[in-house]
Amino acid sequence: MKPKTPKETEAVSTKIVLPNDTNPLNHLFGGRLLAWMDEIAYISANRHSRRVAVTASINNVSFNQPVKLGDTVTLKAKVSRAFSSSMEVIIDVYVENKSTGEQKTSNQAIYTFVAVDQFNNPIEVPQIKPETELETERYDAALRRKQLSLILAGKLKPSEATELKALFTDYN
Ligand SMILES: CC(C)(COP(=O)(O)OP(=O)(O)OC[C@H]1O[C@@H](n2cnc3c(N)ncnc32)[C@H](O)[C@@H]1OP(=O)(O)O)[C@@H](O)C(=O)NCCC(=O)NCCS
Repeated sequence: MKPKTPKETEAVSTKIVLPNDTNPLNHLFGGRLLAWMDEIAYISANRHSRRVAVTASINNVSFNQPVKLGDTVTLKAKVSRAFSSSMEVIIDVYVENKSTGEQKTSNQAIYTFVAVDQFNNPIEVPQIKPETELETERYDAALRRKQLSLILAGKLKPSEATELKALFTDYN
């Protein structure tokens, strides 16, 4: 399978925060943002694999600042690395200043999707070929994140995590 660049997997979505999306402080619900991120990450994973993909894990979500009622929010998702059947998708979320149009990062999340066939069996996906410095950094770190996610899910023994063994010396 021909490798793809992260750019080829990019998916972008812009939303406006409506009253139904907010809590009593008029800030965006975390759960609503998680759903928006899951959706855009799915589109990115599908652009990469051209297969049905399922969310296997949400590895990291940071909520750095409140997103307010009426704010314009842009979500950008790209596959940062693909393994055999799994794909790491990083979603960067920006809030736009209504007067200047300047976009500030408000959140970031890292999701793992697995491409599956019609019987929900994992199937192979193309590899990723990073182009920019940031894409290369994210690509290089993705294996560590995958191993950490598998340890936390109870699917990998810390002693088998080649990239992380040193963090779990008690388990060796
Ligand atoms: C995701 C799923 C298909 C994986 O099935 P599985 O039997 O664990 O398959 P495998 O062990 O062969 O793993 C398949 C791939 O997923 C990766 N994976 C599985 N769980 C993972 C986790 N928690 N974190 C990161 N990667 C994970 C494996 O490392 C493997 O990657 P690779 O093929 O690229 O090396 C299965 O767990 C599933 O169907 N989960 C439910 C998905 C779902 O319904 N999501 C929506 C939630 S509402």
